[in-house]
Amino acid sequence: MKKIKKILSKKNRSKIVCLTAYSKNVAEIVDKHADIVLVGDSLGSVLYNYSTTRRVTLTEMINHSKSVRMGIKKSLMVVDMPYKTYSTKNLALKNARKIIKETKCDAVKLEGGKKIIKQITYLIKNKIPVMGHLGLLPQSIKGSFKSKGKNIKEINDLLNDALLLQKKGVFAIVLECVKTAVSKKITQNLKIPTIGIGSSINCDGQVLVTDDLIGLNETNIKFVKKFLNIRKFLNLGVKRFASEVRSKKYPTKKYSY
Ligand code: KIV
Repeated sequence: MKKIKKILSKKNRSKIVCLTAYSKNVAEIVDKHADIVLVGDSLGSVLYNYSTTRRVTLTEMINHSKSVRMGIKKSLMVVDMPYKTYSTKNLALKNARKIIKETKCDAVKLEGGKKIIKQITYLIKNKIPVMGHLGLLPQSIKGSFKSKGKNIKEINDLLNDALLLQKKGVFAIVLECVKTAVSKKITQNLKIPTIGIGSSINCDGQVLVTDDLIGLNETNIKFVKKFLNIRKFLNLGVKRFASEVRSKKYPTKKYSY
């Protein structure tokens, strides 16, 4: 609860940094710089090459989250509930409790607004902290990625969904691929923070998939800025190892028993 209060207190004061992690080693680094570490079901496409996040299972999410938990000292840890694990309110509660019990995470994230409001309300009533996710919903996508908030209906639906989620008690909302003017309007109309991904600087915070921003996962999604080309360094290290093995330079005495 203390960690959630800290996130809430950042609204209109300082930007919130949220990043994904799928394993302990990455989580250790991310934890130093982020406010929120998200075990996103994006791991389905990033690690398992699934064509959609719908294939991600509860077991996969729990196993990766257990690893991530070991790397976190201070950040709020949020775990995505995978597709079909919250189709009804009872199923949502059963699975959210399982995720929290087994991974010791601080909160769960569910995709959607009005359509899943019964589930969200029930989780919060049962003291499960929930992060919302509106705009582009990867678990619902059939076809290509498109921005949201392009016409009056979409704008009204987004704003109403955001207000409804806030009323029911979510502590923050991810806005994915929401048009700049619309994310601004939503952010200004909410007391809780918005965390943008492809939704402009107007949001209260930003989230990205860590593997994308360090260039480990190769992607050409519009909102991804490559802050590092980690593949170059990986390639260099592996190439040096191979070269030293082949030229019999490694292992020397120092590296042998
Ligand atoms: O699955 C994920 O990693 C996410 C973020 C990119 C918002 O939901």
